[in-house]
Amino acid sequence: MRIVVLVSGTGSNLQAVIDAVKAGELDVEIAAVGADREGTYGVERSSEAGLETFVVNFNSFPTRDEWDAALTARVASYAPDVVVSSGFMRIVSAEFIDTFHGRYLNTHPALLPAFPGAHGVRDAMAYGVKVTGCTVHWADAGVDTGPIIAQEAVTIEDGDTEETLHERIKVVERRLLVSTLASLAASPAS
Ligand code: GRF
Repeated sequence: MRIVVLVSGTGSNLQAVIDAVKAGELDVEIAAVGADREGTYGVERSSEAGLETFVVNFNSFPTRDEWDAALTARVASYAPDVVVSSGFMRIVSAEFIDTFHGRYLNTHPALLPAFPGAHGVRDAMAYGVKVTGCTVHWADAGVDTGPIIAQEAVTIEDGDTEETLHERIKVVERRLLVSTLASLAASPAS
């Protein structure tokens, strides 16, 4: 199973995938890692791992449509079976979703459909829920919508801040992403 991983930030989920592949625990080929901006730790991790790494810089394109078209073409050029949005903080176009329909995997740090959007951890805390978690799902044209593949709960503890909670969620999220990819790789047609 060939995958392209898209990142915007620190790329710890990406690192978990890289480590699992290197350890022989995950039978996927990381065809490339892409980012929407230069200079992120995610890009650095990818380069350090010797992976094909590209940036389609959102701010270098005059319009969102042009950025989207460039991203779609670049990702498609690697002929991935699955595209992984791993902390990729951009809404992609309908064209991108159509091109990779049913093959665009997203991870989200909340139990969807609760708390979608860029601040899933903060919003869960603000609401006052006692349990949140993370979700791996097939992304469609909505914001953090689409068929759910796997979820795991994380309890919110007294004294948690957004940062401490997010770090605990990410520990679970990394494991869930790797195990989901392993399941998909074992039965790619499902
Ligand atoms: C993850 O929690 C992801 O779900 C969210 O941002 C975080 C990215 O973490 N959208 P990292 O870049 O993989 O460390």
